Amino acid sequence: MNDDRLIVALDVPDALSGLKLAERLGDTVGFYKIGLGMLTGGGLALANELKQDHGKRIFLDMKLFDIGATVESAVRGLARFDLDFLTVHGDPHVVRAAREGAGGSGMKILAVTILTSLDRADLDDCLITEGAVADLVVRRADAALTAGADGVIASPREAAAIRALPASQGRLIVTPGVRPTGAEKGDQKRIATPSQAIADGADHIVVGRPVWQSADPRATVEAILADLPAT
Ligand code: C5P
Repeated sequence: MNDDRLIVALDVPDALSGLKLAERLGDTVGFYKIGLGMLTGGGLALANELKQDHGKRIFLDMKLFDIGATVESAVRGLARFDLDFLTVHGDPHVVRAAREGAGGSGMKILAVTILTSLDRADLDDCLITEGAVADLVVRRADAALTAGADGVIASPREAAAIRALPASQGRLIVTPGVRPTGAEKGDQKRIATPSQAIADGADHIVVGRPVWQSADPRATVEAILADLPAT
């Protein structure tokens, strides 16, 4: 049976391939992430279908960032869909606007701290202030949680430090950048194994390429689930 600590990222090009993959994974996966890559390929329609016809939980990874009024109206529109998680950037004005837009919908607002594919050299390129990436992630997480985020997205390497923040008590930590032992890193830089991420305080792990690029996605999911610590 499924274990909702694992969220599979359906980073395939269109809704039809996403549905085929979800059908192959069957009852091993109960929670899916649909992201920007599928925006023009029927992502919202797939979200609806997986939710209503297959009973899956849905994480819509839109990483919204704009002026507050625009974020609020975008989130208000998305709150009409039956979504479980939605991402916005972790800047406090964005988080506050998203919370306002989500209203009482039950859709949780997750704040992106710093992408798990970025390291210090990338932050230098983006003109982001000096300091170790892990410290900046924890500070951004604290600011986003204080602004009202229901949870944060961070690398598993920062999960323990975020879990230690008073502001993170009762909130969610969701970690991409997760790789089963021996899997390709791809463009991810700040990674850990599924079991380490959960042991360090993540509530959910997000795994994409190791599953959807696998010759046997169902067996890969079963191996990841078998590796998770008991609940
Ligand atoms: O294929 P992989 O397992 O690297 O997929 C990770 C997923 O998590 C991708 O869909 C990516 O967009 C998303 N993500 C991330 N880092 C963040 C936020 C989201 O890798 N900080």
